[in-house]
Amino acid sequence: MIHNSTIDTQLNHKSIRKFKDITLNHEQLETLYTVFSRTATSMFMQNASLLHITDEAKKQKIQELCGQKYVGAEGDLFIFIVDLYRNQQIRKQLNKDDGRVHTTDIFFQAMEDTLLAFQNVANAVESMDLGYVPLGTINDH
Ligand SMILES: Cc1cc2nc3c(=O)[nH]c(=O)nc-3n(C[C@H](O)[C@H](O)[C@H](O)COP(=O)(O)O)c2cc1C
Repeated sequence: MIHNSTIDTQLNHKSIRKFKDITLNHEQLETLYTVFSRTATSMFMQNASLLHITDEAKKQKIQELCGQKYVGAEGDLFIFIVDLYRNQQIRKQLNKDDGRVHTTDIFFQAMEDTLLAFQNVANAVESMDLGYVPLGTINDH
């Protein structure tokens, strides 16, 4: 079996649910945003968006919605969004909103874009010796 730093990082993955009370610095954030935006994307539509939740009241609300105490408790909280809205708005503003980016097919492409971007960022996080836990509970509401 081949071992290199990428593969070893992937093989050592485990979800982390308790974090130090430290947030990411500018360089770490910039790196993660760049990795996010360099992910392969169906038809180059970049139908994914990334929210970094820093407002404490919003974090609290999200924690309540998720029903998991560790959500946003320490560290950083991100929401990966399957985002058809941005491209729909761009097309609207250009008077080119012909419904083409409102289809189920585009929705699934957007899901694929978002999941790939998530995993790419997650791998980058672990390669920086940091931890994360994906939170599906955000979708329950
Ligand atoms: C789509 C998805 C949603 C998840 N949602 C949650 C969640 O809401 N809360 C949680 O504690 N873990 C969540 N997890 C983490 C899984 O529980 C975890 O990945 C799984 O138990 C395997 O453990 P590992 O990541 O340490 O290998 C989620 C994982 C995925 C892929």
